[in-house]
Amino acid sequence: MKIALGCDHIVTDTKMKISEHLKDLGHEVIDVGTYDFHRTHYPIFGRLIAENVVSGKADLGIALCGTGVGISASADKVPGTRVALVGDVLTAHYAKKELNANIIAFGGRIL
Ligand code: RB5
Repeated sequence: MKIALGCDHIVTDTKMKISEHLKDLGHEVIDVGTYDFHRTHYPIFGRLIAENVVSGKADLGIALCGTGVGISASADKVPGTRVALVGDVLTAHYAKKELNANIIAFGGRIL
């Protein structure tokens, strides 16, 4: 599966761990950034994740910022996305299985 993965500067280290985990599971990761810890703006990356998913370049997306709130709201503005901000594994499963979410977001500083 191709997964678009992005974050803001607050949680780049968490994103890299997720990226490695996904690759270990055999997934292809499209890392849209950010790639370091220099201050940036989460809407840039929320939109890039969403565009990759909506265009079909990625099957699903994962969005991270400090709380998950900002980047999920940003991704959700792109038509065709079904973004779920999740706070636990059960909710994440529900979002995919019952709501057919195509992007999940969470707070890298929260979870
Ligand atoms: C930092 O920019 C912080 O506001 C961001 O990571 C996120 O928590 C916003 O929802």
